[in-house]
Amino acid sequence: MFGFGDKNKTYKVTIANTGETFEVNGKINLLKAAENAGIEWPCNCKSGGCGTCRAILKEGKVKELSDFAYTLDGDMLDQGYILACQSSLKSDIVVEVDKNQKGVQELKATA
Ligand code: FES
Repeated sequence: MFGFGDKNKTYKVTIANTGETFEVNGKINLLKAAENAGIEWPCNCKSGGCGTCRAILKEGKVKELSDFAYTLDGDMLDQGYILACQSSLKSDIVVEVDKNQKGVQELKATA
């Protein structure tokens, strides 16, 4: 439907580095789904500006709800980083999440 995928579909998320899994309904974003499932996921702004919620997409496809490039730099995009708060799922996915990671702005400030 208008490029948003099937909103009633449920996809499975696997966090490769922790072994956690949870399900995401096509209507909500990845970060919100993780919170609903009781998964600890680093986040701060929840609006695509800080980069704290980033994850490396290893398998599957997501839809960018806003442009990741606004927050993530080219190296991060090349490594496959996505922003959980700005992603809805288009398939089952496998991601890696560093639970102790900092916001992108903090990283730049300390670089
Ligand atoms: S929580 Fe800030 S970019 Fe997602």
